[in-house]
Amino acid sequence: MRIVTAKDYDQMSRKASYIVASRVILNPKCVLGLATGDTPKGLYNELVRLFRAGDVDFSGVTTFNLDEYAGLSPENPQSYHSYMEEHLFRHINIPPEHRHIPNGAAQNIGAECRRYEELIEQAHGIDLQILGLGRDGHIGFNEPDVKFEKGTHHVRLTQSTIEANARFFENRDEVPKSAISMGIKTIMSARRILLLASGSEKAEAIRGAVMGAVTPDLPASVLQLHPNATLIVDEAASAEIMRIK
Ligand code: F6R
Repeated sequence: MRIVTAKDYDQMSRKASYIVASRVILNPKCVLGLATGDTPKGLYNELVRLFRAGDVDFSGVTTFNLDEYAGLSPENPQSYHSYMEEHLFRHINIPPEHRHIPNGAAQNIGAECRRYEELIEQAHGIDLQILGLGRDGHIGFNEPDVKFEKGTHHVRLTQSTIEANARFFENRDEVPKSAISMGIKTIMSARRILLLASGSEKAEAIRGAVMGAVTPDLPASVLQLHPNATLIVDEAASAEIMRIK
């Protein structure tokens, strides 16, 4: 894994935006894998800035989001559909028919997972997958003890993820208990991976992901096996790896 260090969250976001923008400039029809959560918000702001400056055109780009809560309709303000609309889609020019997010409101979740995998295949896979990192080392909603061989699937969220995500909801009881998520197999099939991590609460997971054994107990550790994975990490999140180095 290539490790790029950044001073702080803002610099991490800028460096990430240059990597994403350069992919789109080099291949205007590229397929991007997108994440939600706090981590990529700065990256999305920077991409909007580059778009407004006329430096990047997203009209040929296709996107696939990593995940969506089960049971939330796309219109629900807490859904990842709403998040993407607010932080990225409404500000740039990716055509609506090119944007894909699992449908959390699907009646048949299994069929929705299969449909999503097929769509990714039809798009010839993901060129660049952006990832955030959970405090427990999860990527997407692939929680510790995940099966590495899974494609898009229905996941039960762990208590620690429910608690971490409660900040986005009015109260903890509103946090959905399950989600649809790309699996490790889907993520590892992306041609390039860009993992972002900021803040001291990610330092332990970063240590495991970069220096620990490759194990389902820390899902992000599998990225050590990816041939083209880059981590951009700020000073706080890299504290544990710098101490050991
Ligand atoms: C989001 C996702 C999650 C987050 C992770 C970190 O689509 O799949 O894996 O990337 O939970 O969340 P933040 O960035 O809020 O710390």
